[in-house]
Amino acid sequence: MKVFYKKKSLKNRLEAIRKKHLKIGLVLTMGALHSGHYSLIERAIIESEVVVVTIFVNPTQFNDREDFKKYPHDIEKDLMELRSLLRKEDMVFIPDNKEMYPEPDLLVFDFGHLDKIMEGSHRPGHFNGVAQIVSKFLNIIKPDLAYFGEKDLQQLVIIRKLVEMTNMRVQIVGCPIIREPDGLAMSSRNQLLSVEERKEAVKVYQALSQAFNLADKIPVETLKKNTIGFINNSSILTVEYFEIVNGENLLPIKKWIKNKHVFACIAVKAGNVRLIDNIRLINKQYT
Ligand code: PAJ
Repeated sequence: MKVFYKKKSLKNRLEAIRKKHLKIGLVLTMGALHSGHYSLIERAIIESEVVVVTIFVNPTQFNDREDFKKYPHDIEKDLMELRSLLRKEDMVFIPDNKEMYPEPDLLVFDFGHLDKIMEGSHRPGHFNGVAQIVSKFLNIIKPDLAYFGEKDLQQLVIIRKLVEMTNMRVQIVGCPIIREPDGLAMSSRNQLLSVEERKEAVKVYQALSQAFNLADKIPVETLKKNTIGFINNSSILTVEYFEIVNGENLLPIKKWIKNKHVFACIAVKAGNVRLIDNIRLINKQYT
C-alpha cells in the first residue's frame, strides 16, 4: 500500500489508475480502526481493484468540542494493520486539517427531515459536517464504489441522499454492523468506556434484541416504552432517543407495517460516551 498526505499526489496517482480503467473502492474513516472498519475494507478489496482508505478526524462534524478532543487516535497501529491487509496498489490517505479545509467550508446542506431527527436533533450541525467532508472526499477520489457501515444508519441514508442530490457517479454500498462477542456494536469510542460502563453497555444490544423478538407482538409505543425503561433502569446508562423507523425514509412508524425495512435506532449515554446502534426488525410473518 502507498500512504499519501497531500491531495495533489493522491490525485496524480488516481489519475494514472483511472487511465487503466481499474475499479476504485473507497472506505472513509476517522481512524482508531477496529473490525467494523476492517469489514468495510475487506469487502472493498473483494469488489474493487484499487482501494483507498482515508483516515481523518473531521472537526466540522463534532458539535461537542470535548468529544473532538478526546476522540481516539492511533495512526501507527492503524497503519501497521492496514499494511497487512491492503495490497500493493491500494492507498491510504491521511490529510491534515489544512489539506481538507484550506478555508472554512461554507457549504450548507438541507436533507429535509433526514438531518433533523434522531442524531440530527441531538447533534446539531453534525450531518452538515459529515456531508461537507464526504462530498470533499468523493470529489477528490471519485471512486466507483464507496462503503459505509449500517452501524451509522442515518449517516448512510443521508450519504445516499447527498449522492442523489448532487448527481455523483458513485455506488454507495451499505455494510452490516460488526459486533463484539457480547453484542456491543464495535466503535472507536468504545475504548473510552470505563470497565463498569463497558459491562453495562451490553444492555444496548440486549434491548435491541428484545425489541427484535417483540416486534409486531406488542404495540410500537409499548415496545418503545419498555425498551427505554429497560436501559434507563441502569444507573450508568441513559437513553437519548429510541425510535422505530421505516428504513427507507427514517420516519418513525406508529403501527407495524408490512415492510421488512423497519429499524429500531438507539442512542445511549454511558457516562460521557455516546453509543449508537440499530437493529433491523424483521417481521417474521412476512419473510
Ligand atoms: P467512523 O466512525 O470512523 O466510521 C467509518 C465507517 O465505518 C463508517 O461508514 C461507519 O459506519 C463504519 N463503521 C463503524 N463501526 C462499524 C461497525 N461496528 N460495523 C460496521 N461498520 C462500522 O463514520 C465516520 O467515521 C465518519 O462520519 C466519516 C464517514 C468517516 C466522515 O468523517
